[in-house]
Amino acid sequence: MEIFRDYDLSLHNTFRMKVRCACFVEYDSPDELLSPELETLPKPFKHIGGGANLLFTGDFPGTILHSRINHIKYVDMGLDEVPVIVGAGVVWDEFVEQTCRHGLWGAENLSLIPGEAGAAAVQNIGAYGVEIKDIISGVSCFDNVERKRCKFTAAECGYGYRDSMFKQSGGRYTVLSVLIRLSRKPRPRLEYKGLEGIDASGPMAVRNAVVALRQSKLPDPAETGSVGSYFKNPVVTADVLARVSDAAGGANVPHYILPGGFVKIPAAWLIDSCGLKGSSEGGAAVYERQAVIIINRSGDATPSDILRLEKRVTDTVFSRYGIALEREVEYV
Ligand code: EPU
Repeated sequence: MEIFRDYDLSLHNTFRMKVRCACFVEYDSPDELLSPELETLPKPFKHIGGGANLLFTGDFPGTILHSRINHIKYVDMGLDEVPVIVGAGVVWDEFVEQTCRHGLWGAENLSLIPGEAGAAAVQNIGAYGVEIKDIISGVSCFDNVERKRCKFTAAECGYGYRDSMFKQSGGRYTVLSVLIRLSRKPRPRLEYKGLEGIDASGPMAVRNAVVALRQSKLPDPAETGSVGSYFKNPVVTADVLARVSDAAGGANVPHYILPGGFVKIPAAWLIDSCGLKGSSEGGAAVYERQAVIIINRSGDATPSDILRLEKRVTDTVFSRYGIALEREVEYV
């Protein structure tokens, strides 16, 4: 375990906010979470992964904890369904790349998503028709209330769209590792627009197509700070969809049909059709190529620039369509 005081967090959040925390702890094993030394550190405590879905709204007065539990264990490579245990601190895309190299199916559509495996299981990351919940068998955690380890089956994780029981528990559980189930048998998932007709001869071929698609739409995290999608895609009823179309002058509104008479409308379309692409507040801007993404365009954007831009976007979309956009990003 390593403890750093008055620590710069700019390399621990993909928005590249220049904020600090009173204390930063990197731990290497679950047992270290029981260390009496931790009790002496400034509160509150907050666990982070790669900081790929967080907005630090200012300096953090407490202690940030980060897992360095980064093993990948293939439980039995001989099976058709290969169980793999992935430490919470594993960089998600390094895991995906490795499993594709082994010819294992299941994670390839989730290529190039920034962040680490533990946070991926909390956030239920998703892309191109697949969510991580589809390949999770179980999650091993530390219960910060009972101060002991515990395990959950996928069903117990209460997964929804970018949501889980972990997210709802207010930080009670810290993910230690995730049990993923991959397949030796070909299982390409190519329904999503942009993936139809691609080379699906192996998981690596699909991964390459997903990487190319993401690179064409999303900012390069090495160059431009962002958290990917800033907003969730709103789920509404069919009459709201009709109202949106009317408000947009009878436009054909893109949407995905969900069970129970609901539809999901891309937040990107709502924002784009309000003419907000490229609009900015200070150093923050709505990304030109994908309107659901807010970027740190100048590299020097402050949390307040991002918050002002968020407000402008939500206010504009609400006054035009009567839909209150919900953040996907988590404030810290
Ligand atoms: N669109 C616009 N303007 C834009 C961009 C998109 O009108 O600037 C419309 C288009 O009609 C397009 C539709 O919105 O067909 C959907 O866009 P896209 O396929 O890019 O997907 P999305 O719904 O905006 C979601 C996830 C992404 C994920 C992609 C691919 C959410 C909020 N976002 O975006 O997730 O990569 O699908 O599966 O669910 C993330 O969570 O950080 C993330 C990037």
